[in-house]
Amino acid sequence: MKLFDTHAHILDARFDADRDEVLKRCREVGVERIMEGCCDEAEIDAVLALAEKEEMVVGSVGVHPHAAREMTNATLDKMEQALAHPKILAVGEIGLDYHYDFSPRDVQRHWLGQQLALAAQKNVPVILHNRESSGDMLEILTAHKNGLRGVMHSFSGSYETAARCLDLGLYIGLGGPLTFGNAVKPRELAARLPIDRLVIETDCPYLTPVPFRGKRNDPSLLPYILTALAQCRRMDEQELAEQLFANSLALFQLI
Ligand code: NI
Repeated sequence: MKLFDTHAHILDARFDADRDEVLKRCREVGVERIMEGCCDEAEIDAVLALAEKEEMVVGSVGVHPHAAREMTNATLDKMEQALAHPKILAVGEIGLDYHYDFSPRDVQRHWLGQQLALAAQKNVPVILHNRESSGDMLEILTAHKNGLRGVMHSFSGSYETAARCLDLGLYIGLGGPLTFGNAVKPRELAARLPIDRLVIETDCPYLTPVPFRGKRNDPSLLPYILTALAQCRRMDEQELAEQLFANSLALFQLI
C-alpha cells in the first residue's frame, strides 16, 4: 500500500527529538511521500533543507494567513526563487482565517491574492487554508480562477462550498476529523464527493485521528484516515489507496 500525506508540518518543534524515527515509521506503514506545508518566510529555508535531506519529503512555500501581517514583497521574491527547486512543488499554505484573525482581514486577503497570482504565474498548485471565511475565499479564488490548481486542505465546509471548490478545479483534502465520533456531516460529505478529486492528509502535529486523539499526530497515522474514508465510501482500502495516491501525484504535477 502506498500513501501520500498531502499536508504535514514535520518541521514543527514537537518533532525535533524524533523526526528521523517518525519518518522511518512512515515508510514502514506505506507512507511514501509527504508534502510539507510552509507557514511563514522564516520556514522557507527549512522546508528546502528538509526536502533536500529526505527523499520522501516534497515541499511548498507560502505564508499562512496567521503570518500575513509580516509578509512583504521580499517574501514573495524569496518564494519565487525557492519554486525553482525541483522538490518545491506548491505555494502554501495560504488562505484566510477569520476564526483567529491573527492578521487583519484586508491584509490576509491582499497576500492571498498575491500568492495566488505567483502560483498561477509559476504554474504550480496552491495549498489553501480556509477557516470561517468561505464567502471571501470563494470570491478571491473566482477572481484568480485562470491558472488555478490546488487543494482545499482540511476541508470542513458544506457540500455547497465543496461543489464550488470542485467547479474551480480544486482537490479536497480530508484528514483526522473523519475519524472523530461526532463527525457525521464530514463523513456524509466524504462519501458524496467525486473520488478522483479527494486526497488525504494528517495536518500533523494537529488533528490527530482516533484512537490517538489528544496525542501528537504524525504522518504514520495516515492509515487510520484511509480506513475511515474507506468505511464512509464502502470501498476496499487497497483500491482507495491507489486512487488517492494517483490523485496526489496529479495534484502536485508529479505525473
Ligand atoms: Ni497546515
